[in-house]
Amino acid sequence: MTALVSPSILSADFTNLERDLQAISTADYAHVDVMDNHFVPNLTLGLPIVERIVQVSPVPIDVHLMIEDPDRWAPGFAEAGAQSVTFHAEAAAAPVRLARELRRLGARAGLALKPATPVEPYLDLLSEIDMILVMTVEPGFGGQSFIEGTLPKIQRARRAIGEADLDVWLQVDGGISRATIDRAAEAGANVFVAGSAVYGADDIPAEIDTLRRMASAHQH
Ligand code: DX5
Ligand code: ZN
Repeated sequence: MTALVSPSILSADFTNLERDLQAISTADYAHVDVMDNHFVPNLTLGLPIVERIVQVSPVPIDVHLMIEDPDRWAPGFAEAGAQSVTFHAEAAAAPVRLARELRRLGARAGLALKPATPVEPYLDLLSEIDMILVMTVEPGFGGQSFIEGTLPKIQRARRAIGEADLDVWLQVDGGISRATIDRAAEAGANVFVAGSAVYGADDIPAEIDTLRRMASAHQH
C-alpha cells in the first residue's frame, strides 16, 4: 500500500494560494485547516475561500475543521466539494449523525482527536467514518514539534481498525517531517499531513516524494 501525503496550506502564502496549490500538484490531497478562534486560539479561513480552493486545486481537498459546532458548519464544506471533511470529536454534539450527513453529501467523513483525547470511546463506531485523524501536536498552529506520546494511540487505533477489518484511514497531523514520519508510519498511520516540512523545502515535489516513499516503506 502507498502512503498518502496531504500538505497543509497553513504554511502556504495566503496571498498566492493558487500558485502554492499548484506547487503541491504531485500530492495526494491538499490539507486545508479551518480555525474559528474558539475551538483553537487561531483564525484562518472559512467556507467562501474553501469553495474557491476546491475549484482551483489540482488535487482533492482534505478539510480539517478546528471549529466549534461542526454539526452546523461541516456539511457546507462537503457541499462545496471537499473530498474529505474532518471534524473534531471534542466539538461535535452528534458525531455519528454528522458523519452520516457528510457521507450522504459525497464526502469522506473524518473524526479528529486532540492529543489528550482517547480513541477508545470511538472504536465501536469505526464503520461510521472513513478516517481517524490523530493530532500529533495541539491543534492551532503550524511548525510545532511532534508529540511522541501520541504514538501508542496511533498503534491502538490501527490495531482496532485491523480487528474490525475496515478500510478506515489513519491520518497524522502536526510535526510530520523526515525526522518523524518513520515513527508515525510504523505506528500505523497511512495519511500524512505536513505543512512546514513541505512548504519550507527548497524542492517541494521532491519533498512530497521523499515523505511518501519513507512512509510507504512501513505500509502493509
Ligand atoms: C495544526 C494544523 C496542521 C498544521 C501542521 O493545528 O492542523 O495541519 O498545518 O503544520 P506542521 O506540519 O508544520 O506541523
Ligand atoms: Zn490540520
